[in-house]
Order: sequence, then C-alpha cells, then structure tokens
Amino acid sequence: MPASDVRVGFIGCGEHAVEVLLPAVQQVGLDLAAICDLDKRRAQRATRRFGAFRAYQDLQRMIDEMDLDAVLVCGPPELHAEAATVALHHGCHVWTEAPPAPTAAEAERIGELARERGLVAQAGLMMRFAPAYRRLRATIADEAFGAPVAFEAIYWPPALPGHDEPLLFDALHILDLVRWLLGEVAECSMALEDERAAISLRMLDGATGVVSFLWGGPWPREMVTVGSDAAVATAVDRASLTVRRRGSDEMTVWRAEALAAGGQSDTAHLRGYLSALVQFAAGVADDAPQEATISAAAATMHLIERLHRDGEV
Ligand SMILES: NC(=O)c1ccc[n+]([C@@H]2O[C@H](COP(=O)([O-])OP(=O)(O)OC[C@H]3O[C@@H](n4cnc5c(N)ncnc54)[C@H](O)[C@@H]3O)[C@@H](O)[C@H]2O)c1
Repeated sequence: MPASDVRVGFIGCGEHAVEVLLPAVQQVGLDLAAICDLDKRRAQRATRRFGAFRAYQDLQRMIDEMDLDAVLVCGPPELHAEAATVALHHGCHVWTEAPPAPTAAEAERIGELARERGLVAQAGLMMRFAPAYRRLRATIADEAFGAPVAFEAIYWPPALPGHDEPLLFDALHILDLVRWLLGEVAECSMALEDERAAISLRMLDGATGVVSFLWGGPWPREMVTVGSDAAVATAVDRASLTVRRRGSDEMTVWRAEALAAGGQSDTAHLRGYLSALVQFAAGVADDAPQEATISAAAATMHLIERLHRDGEV
C-alpha cells in the first residue's frame, strides 16, 4: 500500500508540529485526514495550512469519527500516553514525539498494548534515522572497524520551552542513540549539576565512554566518536562523518547530502524525521519492521530513571 493510502490524524499543533512534523508528514505523502488541538484556532489554522479534511478539539472524537489508520501525537508526554492508549484501543497505529509517556513504566505499557494488538507504536527517536548516524552505525558494525572499545558523545541542545525535565526530554535522544549504536548498558553513573550532566557508561559488549549533556548553553553542539583498536569514527552535528584508520594519516570524510527541496525538508531529513516517518508509514502500510519503537524508548527511559535513582555520584 502506498503512503498516500495511510489515513492519519495528527494531535497537537504547537511549534514543533507546525514547523517540522506536519511538513514532514506532507513530504512523506501520508493522507492527512484530521488535525486536533485543544486550542481551536491552532487546529483550524493547521488544518488549512496542511490541507487536512477536518479540525477537532477532542482527540477521542477525532479517533471515533474519522476512520483513521494511524494517529500521530506531538505535545506534552501525558498527551502522548493518553492519545496512544486511546488510539491503540481503537485499532489505530501510533507515532508519538519523545518521550512517549511521563514514565518508563507507562511507555512500556503502551509498547505492550501495541504488541498485543499487532499495531505499530513508534516514538520520535529521530537520531536513529539521521543519515550521519545511520552511516556511523554501519561503519562501526563493519568487521574492518573492529569491536568498539571507547566512545564519547557530546549533546548540548538549545533550551526549548516546556522541556522542564531536560534529561527526559533531551538526553533521552543521545542516550537512546548510544544504546542503538553500542548495545545495552551494564553499568552507569551520573554527575548532575543543574542542567549539565556527565554520564559514564560501560556497555555489556565492553565499550566504555561518556555522554556530556548540557541543556540550554549558548553553543548548541553535537558530536559522537566511537573508537576501536583499528579505527576511530566521528559524526559532527548530524552533518558529517570522519573515519581514520590506525597507522594511516588518511582520513575519509563523508558529508550528509541536502535534498533538492532544501529548507525545512533538509532539516527534517538531516535530523532524521523524514526517514522515521517513512519507516512508520511502511510499518502501517506493509508491516515493515520498526526500529524506534515505544518499547525501545521505554528501555532508554528506564536507563534515565536508573541514573537518577542510583547512578548519581
Ligand atoms: N525531537 C525534537 O527535536 C523535538 C524538538 C522540539 C519538540 N519536541 C517534542 O515535541 C513535543 C511538542 O513540542 P512543542 O514545542 O510543539 O509543544 P507546544 O507546547 O508548542 O505544543 C503542544 C500542543 O499540544 C496541544 N495539546 C495539549 N494537550 C492537548 C490535548 N489533550 N488534546 C489536543 N491538543 C493538546 C497544545 O494546545 C499545544 O498546541 C514535546 O514532546 C517535545 O518534547 C521534540
């Protein structure tokens, strides 16, 4: 089934939805049937701008009335959990922004509900879909790279309004990326000071490293380095990947390619949103496997809760 046959309802029309996600939904070609926001003017404006059929203020009503295949949600975590639960009970697939729920246990419950019902439940873990990180993952999985022994991840995102728990809203992304690249965590500890955290991780497969997290500093920055005995690979700002091999001065440099459409599309493409929604649409339409499930987000949320509980040093 083509993406254009997947009939979706979109809930939550704040800035992130209107600037990034709804344009990406259009670009992927999903059939945007309805848009819902508690704020009637926002819902109506987004409905007009993105060519949806109908605006709603009540998510239950939208889901009951619109015969949707899937529901996408972008608001506070409580809204993600509520909308996902209603949608899954109604037989709709769901995509939520991250975090998919206020707690790991609630996210896990939503993941289980989706599994029981045979429905797709994807969380907005966009870093997994960014071209630079997909290339980094393929590079370090290559036999010639050798087993990763060390890593360093720097994530200093800008402060966003409403992100009152930066570890849950923002560090979630970089910690999820580390798990996706390097596997499960065996040991962890965290030094936390205001909105700054230094997180030490030892992975089950043996690699050790640190995540430097700084929320709302004056210089947004993102860099991930993974090293083995044979090579080192560094992705910078989701825009480039540099690989150096042991014993050679040569450096291979790859740069993420912009899209012909440019502008917003490039942002959505380079940050990973476009490919995330393409995979979600393929999951709904053709049962394609999903990588960034709500259950995967729940596992990273458990790690964050563990860091808070017994990982602080
Ligand atoms: N991954 C990223 O790069 C990234 C970036 C920015 C934001 N986000 C995430 O996106 C989400 C939303 O961010 P935002 O800045 O657009 O938020 P926002 O506060 O601007 O918008 C949220 C919208 O949800 C609506 N809403 C709240 N409860 C509702 C309900 N019960 N029914 C219908 N609508 C309801 C509000 O009226 C509002 O319009 C957050 O979860 C945030 O973490 C992710």
